[in-house]
Amino acid sequence: MYGASDPAAAERTAFRRAEKQYKLYKPPNLKGRSRSRSRPPVFRRCRSKVSGGEGGGGDLSAVVDFHALLAADQELPAGIGRHDYAGFDRPVFCFLDRPGFYFIPGALSTEEQCYWIKESLKEFPQPPNRTNLTAIYGSFSDLLIAAKNQKILVEMENPDAQERNEQNNCSGITQSKNFKFVEDSEILKGEKCRSTAATTLVRKLRWSTLGLQFDWSKRNYDVSLPHNKIPDALASLAKKMASPAMPPGEEFKPEAAIVNYYGPSDMLGGHVDDMEADWTKPIVSISLGCKCIFLLGGKTRDEVPTAMFLRSGDIVLMSGEARESFHGVPRIFIDSDQQEISELISQLSSGDDCFILNYIKNSRININIRQVY
Ligand code: OGA
Ligand code: MN
Repeated sequence: MYGASDPAAAERTAFRRAEKQYKLYKPPNLKGRSRSRSRPPVFRRCRSKVSGGEGGGGDLSAVVDFHALLAADQELPAGIGRHDYAGFDRPVFCFLDRPGFYFIPGALSTEEQCYWIKESLKEFPQPPNRTNLTAIYGSFSDLLIAAKNQKILVEMENPDAQERNEQNNCSGITQSKNFKFVEDSEILKGEKCRSTAATTLVRKLRWSTLGLQFDWSKRNYDVSLPHNKIPDALASLAKKMASPAMPPGEEFKPEAAIVNYYGPSDMLGGHVDDMEADWTKPIVSISLGCKCIFLLGGKTRDEVPTAMFLRSGDIVLMSGEARESFHGVPRIFIDSDQQEISELISQLSSGDDCFILNYIKNSRININIRQVY
């Protein structure tokens, strides 16, 4: 269930009020510069842009900070529980009044975070996986390499080239669009053609889907779409991390994942993920890059949500009742808050990947893994 049919009524809900309270408001001189970031409208899963205006985003005193709780090593505030599970070197926190929700702070080492950030940018957007760009440009490969090499994606008009592109199209998606990456200099031939810099496209990347592909227009998984299995390393990570939320003796089967890419002004509006068959199975949700505020509400938007910080390397599980709960990301933190990801930045700086380093300094990536059947 995504969005509400009457926007004015949605403004009046407790969830919407919390979103407004935490979202980032831009100074008036930056008004109108941000781009709308949304999944297909039929899904009504809004990635809204920030808007100019008064207030918001200031008072963070009610935001639960599990890392601070862990560091303080004191008695927990009322309503928060803590468990130790085999295979985890960190405790697992939960809210006593929100059964089925689990928070594993610092579940991933800095090395693991770097690995999954690179995979999210280099491998996960590759065909046959679909992204928000597939509908506009058709299926294309190696976006990150093209961005590093300052390439430009251009629409081909030459019928021979078009035919070649069709032959090379291994995605199985009917390719009515014919775009390919070219060197900057190659497009100076006096022809008018639609073109976009690969670096711009990386910034426009909002989501990619792994494993079973979700068809946003039909609002369901389309098993007939070509797809690869969830990569083995991601599947084993998800199985291990899902264990606190799994019924005893059962193993989580990772069948699909959505990867969300958030820029500085993006938010993910409140929603419930209700398209998988078995809600007793958790969604395993990995946070990478910049810190964000995550809101966990109840079964309706009228319940006041709990706000918490999610940082790079944290993992949350939503199963059972929490699987039916409204949740969203009203805000990510960049710039002055970069000490939060200083370890990540220094680890990435020691490699040769400047592009990824600069990307993650003002971005957040979320990988959420699901059992569909
Ligand atoms: C989602 C989602 C949360 C996040 O993609 O369904 O709820 O932390 N993501 O980005
Ligand atoms: Mn969700």
